[in-house]
Amino acid sequence: MPKATTTIAWDPDTESILFIDQTALPRRYEVVRCSSVERLAEGIRRLEIRGAPALGVAGALGVALAALTSRKPDPDRFRSDVRKAAEVLRSTRPTAVNLAWGVDRVLDRVLTAPSIEEARARAVAEAVAVADEDEAVCRTLGDYGADLIPDGATVLTHCNAGALACRAWGTALGVVRSAVAAGKEVRVIACETRPLNQGSRLTCWEMAHEGIDVTLITDSSAAYLMQTGAVDLAIVGADRITHDAVFNKIGTYMHAVCARHHAIPFYVAAPLSTFDLVHMAKDITIEERSRDELAWCGDRQLAPEGVRVLNLAFDATPLDLVTAIVTEAGVLRPPYREAFASARRGDAR
Ligand code: MRU
Repeated sequence: MPKATTTIAWDPDTESILFIDQTALPRRYEVVRCSSVERLAEGIRRLEIRGAPALGVAGALGVALAALTSRKPDPDRFRSDVRKAAEVLRSTRPTAVNLAWGVDRVLDRVLTAPSIEEARARAVAEAVAVADEDEAVCRTLGDYGADLIPDGATVLTHCNAGALACRAWGTALGVVRSAVAAGKEVRVIACETRPLNQGSRLTCWEMAHEGIDVTLITDSSAAYLMQTGAVDLAIVGADRITHDAVFNKIGTYMHAVCARHHAIPFYVAAPLSTFDLVHMAKDITIEERSRDELAWCGDRQLAPEGVRVLNLAFDATPLDLVTAIVTEAGVLRPPYREAFASARRGDAR
């Protein structure tokens, strides 16, 4: 098993995308070579690639792939081809804003290029830049966030906001990694994260391979552990941050409410590409996934045939439950409207 995790990358030799198939973990470490937008879109829908920043990189690389694989010789038809592919990618998952952000960054380079050849070159360069920046951003926000973690702390996290959810390093788990790299002793409590077990499958895999102390719990154990003093702080990632809420994996809101009740700091770690300061929480579509993800576990039936299932992928945590948001522009604290504005100007720390 590799120690370093590069979740998704561009392979210039074969002009294709390489990504770790996260549905195979923790049993198998498999790298997929992907040379079509259709295969990439399927990988995103199936959660072979998941996590907001990794989806941003996937969207960016996917548009570059569309530009390289379009066979339309006429510039207008070429642009329309790439636009269509961008739409397919954008529609695969509605809640994580990074996906649309990554798609748009590269699409803009394609649509403004003077020729097809130039569009292809610019698209690849921009997509590779999105990937490289993601890793740099995670390391920067990790270092800011490390100061929030006391030496000897036990940190609760939900879902997987680690290297696998990004290009590398991670957001919430990037903060943990940076704290450990700074010499602190940190213990992680990983919620299994129902229904898809990103916590037990991915966070535990990452932490174990990094040699970071990790304990797996059921999501419903978190409140009791907070009540009994076993958790010093909670930190999670985000799929979208609006002016009034943080969208993250379903169950995040429950942890935030419990943390507030027990006066435990509740932190969010996310790059500025996760911010959506145009919409409010009520405007955001919460992704609903298939009933089978909840009603079945492999070939084991977990719910009666025909029972109605509501399988929500995300929830919205009101910002007043969030102690601070760690970004690459610094640690943002309430009042958030001002903090978001200063992060955008670049004068937050
Ligand atoms: O459905 P997923 O696995 O894509 O959901 C991922 C999460 O909810 C993560 O916490 C979020 O994307 C932040 S990743 C740094």
